[in-house]
Amino acid sequence: MRIAILGSNGQLGRDLTLALADHQLLPLTRVAFDVTDHVRARTVLSELRPEVIVNTTAFHQVDDCERQPEPAYSVNALAVLNLVRVANDLNATLVHFSTDYVFDGKSQKPYVETSEPFPLSIYGNSKLAGEYLVRTAARKYFLIRSCGLYGRAGSRGRGGNFVQTMLKKAEEGESIRVVHDQVLTPTSTADLARQVAVILPTAHYGLYHVTNEGSCSWYEFAAAVFEIARVKADLFPTTLDLYKAPALRPPYSVLENARLKELGLNVMRHWRDALSEYLK
Ligand SMILES: NC(=O)c1ccc[n+]([C@@H]2O[C@H](COP(=O)([O-])OP(=O)(O)OC[C@H]3O[C@@H](n4cnc5c(N)ncnc54)[C@H](OP(=O)(O)O)[C@@H]3O)[C@@H](O)[C@H]2O)c1
Repeated sequence: MRIAILGSNGQLGRDLTLALADHQLLPLTRVAFDVTDHVRARTVLSELRPEVIVNTTAFHQVDDCERQPEPAYSVNALAVLNLVRVANDLNATLVHFSTDYVFDGKSQKPYVETSEPFPLSIYGNSKLAGEYLVRTAARKYFLIRSCGLYGRAGSRGRGGNFVQTMLKKAEEGESIRVVHDQVLTPTSTADLARQVAVILPTAHYGLYHVTNEGSCSWYEFAAAVFEIARVKADLFPTTLDLYKAPALRPPYSVLENARLKELGLNVMRHWRDALSEYLK
């Protein structure tokens, strides 16, 4: 398949480039086009004529989105509508990524694809708007919600990933406080990309939850990083209240890969196993 990967230098984009290496790849970065430039995006994609458009781009600095809703909606929703239209015109499949932040985190059990979203932040709302545009307007799509991503390239938008940040702080001898009342599933972008490679050749279009298995708090995630990497760290638990970030975060945003399991396609392993491989 001819596959355009938008945001190919991001942490997920890099791992998708590896996982989909058997295909004819068209990696695209912001230099080739900014997704908010709708005319240029259409021109570039129309010339390349991909059969699949994989959109990893996002404005996902969660606190910045609260202060700058316009660019958040511009990248996470309006640009997505343009990509939907281009994909439809080219008869291409659109692969688009969304987030656990579409949920309010009041659940006591993992969210499935049919759970009702209720975002608490501008980021979550803008991503949910993008989801609705994909679900209502795209003819062939895979819409993939994931959670707590980390990958070798490090998040471009967030200046590195959580694991790298923790190890750096420990190396610098900092006292590290991490929230213990926000529960998630840390997810390796290498694993997520391999799962995308499994579902892409199928015609099982639609919405998917794709995360590693199991769950933990961010504090437990940090503790696991230090334990597995055998690094001594001055780590303490804190709470979302004390952290006082501009954007509200869901206190519990564990996603169940329910659809993948129904289809017998789930290849996601436990988050600790994925983390161990990453830290090797
Ligand atoms: N990170 C997480 O924890 C997490 C959790 C759940 C879901 N997600 C979703 O997963 C996807 C991938 O995230 P990631 O962690 O791989 O992010 P990332 O490393 O920040 O990569 C995002 C990519 O998008 C590009 N990009 C941003 N704005 C663009 C624009 N206007 N035009 C063209 N390219 C643009 C960035 O390029 P430049 O850096 O060159 O601008 C970068 O290559 C996103 O949809 C995100 O919402 C992420």
